[in-house]
Amino acid sequence: MSSSSPDERTLVLIKPDAVRRGLVGEIISRFERKGLQVDAMVQRTLNEDFADQHYAEHVDKPFYPPLKTFMTSGPLVALVLSGDQVIEVVRGMIGVTDGRRAAAGTIRGDLSLSNRENLVHASDSVDSAKREIGLWFPELV
Ligand code: TYD
Ligand code: MG
Repeated sequence: MSSSSPDERTLVLIKPDAVRRGLVGEIISRFERKGLQVDAMVQRTLNEDFADQHYAEHVDKPFYPPLKTFMTSGPLVALVLSGDQVIEVVRGMIGVTDGRRAAAGTIRGDLSLSNRENLVHASDSVDSAKREIGLWFPELV
């Protein structure tokens, strides 16, 4: 199978910690410099119900209540990015979940020291990208 899939899309959230810290431009700039395309973008503040829908896979986990408090604590920026293998490319660019362990050169590795306030969310599979883009940007699907 060919490795090129130029129309693949992923959902990225620039989380409330990044907005508070003035890192929105830095983070979007990294994606743009990589060559990815911004297909849609909106700033909004999540309510609890929407946070539960976004993080449906995590709502029963012990870390979820403080995560929900964090995710609803202020405005965030949601983006749809597209590009060749964008789902995997963006996961690589953001680094592993815990900012203390994320590699230097990644967004979390360079800019976060937290396992919760880790600046960005990105879809982790074709299925989750489809679900998350449908949730955040129903007009695109
Ligand atoms: P997860 O989907 O495992 O990580 P990722 O964002 O890298 O896909 O978890 C979702 C978010 O939940 C994560 O970005 C930060 C938060 N979280 C915690 O607060 N504590 C934890 O122990 C884990 C695993 C995640
Ligand atoms: Mg995840």
